[in-house]
Amino acid sequence: MRGWMKKFRSFFLFGALTLILSGCGVENLSALKPKGYGSELIFDLMMISIAIMLFVFVIVMAIYTYVLIRYRQKKGQEDFIPKQTEGNKALEVIWTVIPIILLLVLAVPTVQATFDLADESTKGDDNVTSIEVTGNQFWWHFSYIDDEISTSQDLYIPTGERVYLDMKSSDVIHSFWVPSIAGKMDTNPGDNDNTMYLEAYEEGVYWGKCAELCGESHSLMDFRVIAVSPEEYDQWKEDMQNVDPEAEPETAEAQEGKELFENSCMGCHAIGDGAAGQGPNLTNFANRTKIAGILEPSKENLVDWIVNPEEVKPGNQMPVNLVSEEEASKIAEYLLELDHSDVGPESSGKQVEEK
Ligand code: CUA
Repeated sequence: MRGWMKKFRSFFLFGALTLILSGCGVENLSALKPKGYGSELIFDLMMISIAIMLFVFVIVMAIYTYVLIRYRQKKGQEDFIPKQTEGNKALEVIWTVIPIILLLVLAVPTVQATFDLADESTKGDDNVTSIEVTGNQFWWHFSYIDDEISTSQDLYIPTGERVYLDMKSSDVIHSFWVPSIAGKMDTNPGDNDNTMYLEAYEEGVYWGKCAELCGESHSLMDFRVIAVSPEEYDQWKEDMQNVDPEAEPETAEAQEGKELFENSCMGCHAIGDGAAGQGPNLTNFANRTKIAGILEPSKENLVDWIVNPEEVKPGNQMPVNLVSEEEASKIAEYLLELDHSDVGPESSGKQVEEK
């Protein structure tokens, strides 16, 4: 390394770090770009903490630098011993009182936000949506109890209002996290249900993650929250309630796929309103933004997923080679016809048609 380079080594290092960190903040995934009530509250708390930390850091560094320069040993003073002081009431009071004040500045809004985020005062009121969320290895089930709608992986909510989530798990502990809208909450097995609420400010597709190590495919346990206007949300509910699970598919291939699906897949999956079974509810499958929560929606990916799910999401419950590739292709045709609502983002079914 050249001499001048050595000198600036740390400068380069911090420059590179800044560049890397500037990658943080992916749209609709980052807690640093809040787009909902909960995430905004948490973001504000982070800002207060950072401000206080910066304040303390700057003052301490200033005193430290001043003392280093002012009291360093000078030429001809090698044997000089400065005046020794012990105890200083004023100083001790100052450095006790200032941290107390800083902690109070931090504690008051933190406690307030904690109670605010746990508030359930409007839960159960008329026109307030409550959705049952169940975490499973490695997918999410959503049950709109009052509306008799069941779905998986894509959670539809109306914007501008509080939506309560009653959360549990069918197996191990998972954690439901939509960083850009709200904080996260564990889903527990057994009777230890948790409640949280979501309130999205703007329409959009928000990324959700499982935030609790829950097995081999924990990192692949993604989902989406799709926030639509209250009018569109009502439309979506109506569309979902009017789904006819027995409807005849359009093509002969899809018709065969439907029969195959009923014979091979219905044991675990449901179409129409159904309780959380062993597998995701596929009612609006073609409207999903991803396949299995992670794959781009295409027929090719869907066939791969049906034939060899272990390759895509290791440790999941779906059997490998349950159907042949040819059969999977027919089942895929059928599933990609399950396009029941125009509400929300471009559905996978439509994307496949475009290709
Ligand atoms: Cu479920 Cu991690």
